[in-house]
Amino acid sequence: MSLDKQAIRAELSAEPAYVHLNSAGASLMPRCVVDVQIEHLELEARVGGYEAEWLQRDRIEAVYDSVARLLNCEASEVAIVENATVGWMMAFYAIPFEAGDRILTVEAEYASNYLAYLQIAREKGVVVETIPSTESGEACLESLRAMIDPRVRLISVTHIPTNGGLVNPIEEIGAIARENEILYLVDACQSAGQMTLDVGRIGCDLLSATGRKFLRGPRGSGFLYASQRIIDQLHPPMIDMLGAEWVEIDSYRLRPDARRFENWESNYSAKLGLGRAIDYALDIGLEAIDVEVSRLADRLRGLLEEIPGVQLRDIGKRKCGIITFTLDGVPAAEIETRFRENNIHVSVTTPSGTLIDARRRQLPDMVRASVHYFNCESELERCASLLKDIASV
Ligand SMILES: Cc1ncc(COP(=O)(O)O)c(C=O)c1O
Repeated sequence: MSLDKQAIRAELSAEPAYVHLNSAGASLMPRCVVDVQIEHLELEARVGGYEAEWLQRDRIEAVYDSVARLLNCEASEVAIVENATVGWMMAFYAIPFEAGDRILTVEAEYASNYLAYLQIAREKGVVVETIPSTESGEACLESLRAMIDPRVRLISVTHIPTNGGLVNPIEEIGAIARENEILYLVDACQSAGQMTLDVGRIGCDLLSATGRKFLRGPRGSGFLYASQRIIDQLHPPMIDMLGAEWVEIDSYRLRPDARRFENWESNYSAKLGLGRAIDYALDIGLEAIDVEVSRLADRLRGLLEEIPGVQLRDIGKRKCGIITFTLDGVPAAEIETRFRENNIHVSVTTPSGTLIDARRRQLPDMVRASVHYFNCESELERCASLLKDIASV
């Protein structure tokens, strides 16, 4: 399976001089994703916001079908929200934790998720525990099995961490969660758009992701999958008149579907942009995208490791499109600035984004270069050549 790189690059609006290696931060939207948003904004300006929504209601509704096709679930199991964090938080804070409940998570867990665990631990007496990693860096399945007991209320796992190429075994973890009938929440923020995600195969109850990263959608867009199995057991932490109906003066009824996690007002141009970005990725094919991202990531790692003083920091048997590295004697922020001055876009990942993993591996600030299928080898060579120049000073 191969992809049509020329057609894909023709859909880029980025300045030709730019090398964008920051899809783990925010990727580049294809032209069609930009167009659909501008069209909707113009329609809003011409006819009014509510009227534009009404005129476009079928296309807006179809965005739920797009997310459902991406995840292999039902459209009724999808909530479209402002970002991955809102999706994740709406799910997490809906779980009726009790004192003594245990939450099992991974070493490379994302800071915002861990902060929520700490808050619930403080307020409700829940215990947060980390599943140890194998030597190669993934969450250890044997250790997880040994940790299971009736007090485990939630297994909550970041699929691909913000700080590197690791890919956690979410399907295998899902099998353990299912065997033991434990609620399972997956943060797929960095994997959506980079590889196939099938919630049936993953076996998760809840999964959140964002639009702007590897899905190449707009900023301010994200979604939550909530399995039909558990929707009616979860009361959203906040409701408004979209998530619930005020039926009697003293009572309300929650929506039966995942949209109970949404709120009434939303950015419809971003929603349409998200839908278009997902359709675009599905048209190319997530398997083909995965193959190309892995190929480019391997190539960049190969180029970087030849540079004296460079330390590649990625762990995991299988590594994804996020490449993290340090250069002896040069702070990551300085490299980021030098790159930016030369039109190469990367970002810096700091220990506090994934504190447990950072402490365990004694990680400093690192440069994070993330490749996507629209990148080409000459861009990777430019990146490596600049780093070589920085290293040789
Ligand atoms: C692993 C992971 N989870 C969640 C998030 C938060 O996503 P958002 O900014 O869309 O809320 C990020 C953002 O970088 C992330 O890397």
